[in-house]
Amino acid sequence: MKMGKPKTSDTVVIAIDGPAASGKSTVARALAGRLGYRFLNSGDLYRAMTWACLQCKIDCHDIGAVASAAGQTQIEVGCDGSEYFPLIDSEDPRAHLRKEQVNANVSPVSAVPAVRYVVSAAIRAHATGRQTVIEGRDIGSAVFAETPYKFYIDAPAHVRQRRRRNQGQTEEIARRDLIDSTRETDPLTVAPGATVIDSSALDVTGVVAAMLAKLKEQGLSSAVYACSNG
Ligand code: C5P
Repeated sequence: MKMGKPKTSDTVVIAIDGPAASGKSTVARALAGRLGYRFLNSGDLYRAMTWACLQCKIDCHDIGAVASAAGQTQIEVGCDGSEYFPLIDSEDPRAHLRKEQVNANVSPVSAVPAVRYVVSAAIRAHATGRQTVIEGRDIGSAVFAETPYKFYIDAPAHVRQRRRRNQGQTEEIARRDLIDSTRETDPLTVAPGATVIDSSALDVTGVVAAMLAKLKEQGLSSAVYACSNG
């Protein structure tokens, strides 16, 4: 499929939200590759903030302590070839982001409004003036609510849990999903106007094809999204 490209200075955000293990990282990365866009996994920024709290021996359920740490920690997006990843006070935390302790604490840390504020600001700073596919929980509903390009990738809970097990992980993702979808600030939700795709019914190629068809229908090549969040 041939798709036109916006000018390189235009902000274009394709938001891909969904619960844990819905397959959104894989399809977001593949879609970005097809479009020649950057790919950003916003969950990695929340994981990085969680790692920073654990490094400082902060109780991740102490909202005041987590908020104070968020205010004192510099978070930004670094670049390594074509990979974009979080930097915490200029340090690369990638080796730690999938550890059990981070899995167990990332949802309570992400529920703290001060954390969401600094992470959302870092995401906006990175994406403004660029073309980016961003995956997360609140990209289409909050961080870039104005983008017309929104997807929500879903799959039944048992399918998602099986995917995690097949990746060799024992984490109970239902607990994270519950905290993420019931928190007060920017909970996981289907953003108004988002296209919902069940990834258990399609393979990666099928999901990406469905997304490209929707984007084409929306006239992505000409309907460039002007960012007002900057
Ligand atoms: O995408 P991933 O499962 O790695 O995200 C880890 C956690 O980060 C989520 O369970 C959620 O608590 C938080 N998160 C968030 N908002 C986002 C992305 C992730 O709250 N936009």
